[in-house]
Amino acid sequence: MKKIQAAIFISGRGSNLESLIKSSRKKQSLVNIQLVISNNSKAKGLLIAKKYKIPLIYSFPKKNFEKKISKYLKNIDIICLAGFMQVLDSRFVKKWTRRLINIHPSYLPSFKGLNAQDQAIRAKAKYSGCTVHYVTSKIDSGKIILQKKVKILNKDNTESLSKKILLEEHMIYPKALQKIAKKILEKKS
Ligand code: GRF
Repeated sequence: MKKIQAAIFISGRGSNLESLIKSSRKKQSLVNIQLVISNNSKAKGLLIAKKYKIPLIYSFPKKNFEKKISKYLKNIDIICLAGFMQVLDSRFVKKWTRRLINIHPSYLPSFKGLNAQDQAIRAKAKYSGCTVHYVTSKIDSGKIILQKKVKILNKDNTESLSKKILLEEHMIYPKALQKIAKKILEKKS
Protein backbone atom coordinates (compact mmCIF):
# COMPACT_ATOMS: atom_id res chain seq x y z
CA MET A 1 0.00 0.00 0.00
CA LYS A 2 1.27 3.48 -0.89
CA LYS A 3 1.75 5.82 2.04
CA ILE A 4 2.49 9.48 2.53
CA GLN A 5 5.69 10.50 4.30
CA ALA A 6 5.08 12.57 7.43
CA ALA A 7 7.29 14.64 9.70
CA ILE A 8 6.15 15.56 13.21
CA PHE A 9 7.44 18.69 14.96
CA ILE A 10 7.33 18.73 18.75
CA SER A 11 8.53 20.79 21.70
CA GLY A 12 7.43 18.87 24.78
CA ARG A 13 5.45 15.96 26.18
CA GLY A 14 4.67 14.27 22.86
CA SER A 15 1.34 12.61 23.66
CA ASN A 16 -0.09 13.63 20.28
CA LEU A 17 3.09 12.37 18.65
CA GLU A 18 2.51 9.01 20.32
CA SER A 19 -1.11 8.82 19.16
CA LEU A 20 -0.02 9.66 15.60
CA ILE A 21 2.70 7.01 15.67
CA LYS A 22 0.36 4.37 17.09
CA SER A 23 -2.28 4.99 14.47
CA SER A 24 0.33 5.03 11.69
CA ARG A 25 1.32 1.52 12.70
CA LYS A 26 -2.19 0.19 12.09
CA LYS A 27 -2.73 -1.91 9.01
CA GLN A 28 -5.04 0.49 7.21
CA SER A 29 -2.90 3.60 7.82
CA LEU A 30 -1.82 5.66 4.81
CA VAL A 31 0.87 7.41 6.81
CA ASN A 32 4.52 6.67 7.43
CA ILE A 33 6.16 8.81 10.07
CA GLN A 34 9.78 8.91 9.10
CA LEU A 35 10.97 12.04 10.87
CA VAL A 36 10.50 13.71 14.26
CA ILE A 37 12.07 17.11 14.90
CA SER A 38 12.08 18.97 18.20
CA ASN A 39 13.12 22.53 18.94
CA ASN A 40 13.83 21.48 22.51
CA SER A 41 16.51 18.90 23.24
CA LYS A 42 14.83 18.03 26.55
CA ALA A 43 11.41 17.29 25.05
CA LYS A 44 9.96 14.08 26.48
CA GLY A 45 8.52 13.42 23.04
CA LEU A 46 12.04 12.65 21.77
CA LEU A 47 12.09 9.59 24.04
CA ILE A 48 8.75 8.51 22.60
CA ALA A 49 10.15 8.83 19.08
CA LYS A 50 13.12 6.67 20.13
CA LYS A 51 10.88 4.10 21.82
CA TYR A 52 8.94 3.63 18.58
CA LYS A 53 12.15 3.60 16.51
CA ILE A 54 11.25 6.50 14.24
CA PRO A 55 14.03 6.40 11.60
CA LEU A 56 15.08 10.05 11.82
CA ILE A 57 15.01 12.01 15.08
CA TYR A 58 16.57 15.46 15.41
CA SER A 59 16.64 18.36 17.79
CA PHE A 60 17.62 21.89 16.84
CA PRO A 61 17.56 25.14 18.79
CA LYS A 62 14.94 27.71 17.79
CA LYS A 63 17.40 30.07 16.13
CA ASN A 64 17.40 29.57 12.35
CA PHE A 65 15.35 26.42 12.92
CA GLU A 66 13.73 26.56 9.47
CA LYS A 67 17.11 26.79 7.72
CA LYS A 68 18.62 23.92 9.69
CA ILE A 69 15.78 21.49 9.07
CA SER A 70 15.14 22.09 5.39
CA LYS A 71 17.51 19.38 4.15
CA TYR A 72 15.63 16.72 6.13
CA LEU A 73 12.29 17.57 4.54
CA LYS A 74 13.12 16.68 0.94
CA ASN A 75 10.80 13.68 0.60
CA ILE A 76 8.24 14.73 3.21
CA ASP A 77 4.63 15.13 2.05
CA ILE A 78 3.22 16.65 5.21
CA ILE A 79 4.40 18.25 8.43
CA CYS A 80 2.29 17.84 11.57
CA LEU A 81 2.85 20.26 14.43
CA ALA A 82 2.13 18.48 17.70
CA GLY A 83 2.68 20.76 20.66
CA PHE A 84 5.30 22.64 18.66
CA MET A 85 5.87 25.91 20.51
CA GLN A 86 7.38 28.18 17.90
CA VAL A 87 5.92 30.40 15.24
CA LEU A 88 7.49 29.25 11.99
CA ASP A 89 8.68 32.01 9.68
CA SER A 90 6.30 33.13 6.97
CA ARG A 91 8.50 31.96 4.08
CA PHE A 92 8.53 28.46 5.49
CA VAL A 93 4.78 28.50 6.09
CA LYS A 94 4.17 29.70 2.55
CA LYS A 95 6.40 27.01 1.10
CA TRP A 96 4.44 24.35 3.00
CA THR A 97 0.98 25.71 2.23
CA ARG A 98 -1.60 22.93 2.54
CA ARG A 99 1.13 20.55 3.69
CA LEU A 100 1.51 21.92 7.23
CA ILE A 101 -1.09 21.15 9.89
CA ASN A 102 -1.52 21.76 13.60
CA ILE A 103 -3.69 20.68 16.51
CA HIS A 104 -5.08 23.32 18.82
CA PRO A 105 -6.84 22.66 22.15
CA SER A 106 -10.02 24.67 21.50
CA TYR A 107 -13.01 24.58 19.24
CA LEU A 108 -11.70 27.20 16.78
CA PRO A 109 -12.31 30.01 16.03
CA SER A 110 -12.79 30.41 19.79
CA PHE A 111 -9.77 30.71 22.08
CA LYS A 112 -6.86 31.07 19.71
CA GLY A 113 -3.29 31.32 20.96
CA LEU A 114 -1.67 30.23 24.20
CA ASN A 115 -3.44 28.60 27.18
CA ALA A 116 -6.60 27.92 25.21
CA GLN A 117 -8.08 25.66 27.90
CA ASP A 118 -7.56 28.34 30.54
CA GLN A 119 -9.11 30.93 28.24
CA ALA A 120 -12.22 28.75 27.94
CA ILE A 121 -12.53 28.29 31.74
CA ARG A 122 -12.06 32.01 32.39
CA ALA A 123 -14.66 32.88 29.77
CA LYS A 124 -17.07 30.49 31.54
CA ALA A 125 -17.73 28.88 28.18
CA LYS A 126 -20.22 26.02 27.96
CA TYR A 127 -17.95 24.03 25.71
CA SER A 128 -14.53 24.05 24.14
CA GLY A 129 -12.79 21.28 22.23
CA CYS A 130 -9.97 20.70 19.82
CA THR A 131 -9.27 21.45 16.18
CA VAL A 132 -6.92 20.17 13.52
CA HIS A 133 -6.28 22.91 10.98
CA TYR A 134 -3.94 23.95 8.19
CA VAL A 135 -1.24 26.38 9.28
CA THR A 136 -1.16 29.83 7.72
CA SER A 137 0.74 32.95 8.71
CA LYS A 138 -2.18 33.97 10.97
CA ILE A 139 -2.06 32.00 14.21
CA ASP A 140 -4.70 29.27 14.60
CA SER A 141 -6.69 30.67 11.67
CA GLY A 142 -6.08 28.29 8.77
CA LYS A 143 -8.78 26.12 7.22
CA ILE A 144 -10.27 23.63 9.64
CA ILE A 145 -9.79 19.95 8.82
CA LEU A 146 -11.51 18.30 11.77
CA GLN A 147 -12.75 19.41 15.18
CA LYS A 148 -14.50 18.01 18.21
CA LYS A 149 -16.51 19.72 20.94
CA VAL A 150 -15.94 19.01 24.62
CA LYS A 151 -18.50 20.03 27.25
CA ILE A 152 -17.35 22.20 30.13
CA LEU A 153 -19.04 21.32 33.42
CA ASN A 154 -19.35 23.67 36.39
CA LYS A 155 -16.86 21.57 38.31
CA ASP A 156 -14.22 21.71 35.55
CA ASN A 157 -11.00 23.61 35.97
CA THR A 158 -8.17 24.19 33.51
CA GLU A 159 -6.55 20.90 34.44
CA SER A 160 -9.64 18.71 34.16
CA LEU A 161 -10.69 20.39 30.93
CA SER A 162 -7.20 19.96 29.45
CA LYS A 163 -7.36 16.23 30.22
CA LYS A 164 -10.74 15.83 28.57
CA ILE A 165 -9.65 17.79 25.52
CA LEU A 166 -6.40 15.85 25.23
CA LEU A 167 -8.28 12.55 25.01
CA GLU A 168 -10.21 13.94 22.05
CA GLU A 169 -7.04 15.35 20.49
CA HIS A 170 -5.62 11.85 20.44
CA MET A 171 -8.66 10.70 18.48
CA ILE A 172 -9.01 13.49 15.92
CA TYR A 173 -5.39 14.14 14.97
CA PRO A 174 -4.81 10.65 13.51
CA LYS A 175 -8.22 10.79 11.80
CA ALA A 176 -7.45 14.16 10.23
CA LEU A 177 -4.04 12.98 9.07
CA GLN A 178 -5.50 9.86 7.48
CA LYS A 179 -8.06 12.05 5.68
CA ILE A 180 -5.31 14.29 4.29
CA ALA A 181 -3.18 11.29 3.35
CA LYS A 182 -6.03 9.98 1.22
CA LYS A 183 -6.28 13.32 -0.57
CA ILE A 184 -2.53 13.56 -1.18
CA LEU A 185 -2.36 10.00 -2.54
CA GLU A 186 -5.33 10.61 -4.82
CA LYS A 187 -3.61 13.68 -6.23
CA LYS A 188 -0.38 11.75 -6.79
CA SER A 189 -2.03 8.87 -8.64
C1 GRF B 1 -1.73 19.81 23.03
O1 GRF B 1 -2.73 20.22 23.90
C2 GRF B 1 -1.89 20.49 21.69
O2 GRF B 1 -3.21 20.72 21.33
C3 GRF B 1 -1.19 21.80 21.90
O3 GRF B 1 -0.08 21.48 22.73
C4 GRF B 1 -0.36 20.31 23.48
C5 GRF B 1 0.73 19.34 23.17
O4 GRF B 1 0.66 18.18 23.96
N1 GRF B 1 -0.85 22.42 20.65
P1 GRF B 1 1.55 16.92 23.59
O5 GRF B 1 2.99 17.39 23.54
O6 GRF B 1 1.09 16.40 22.27
O7 GRF B 1 1.32 15.94 24.70
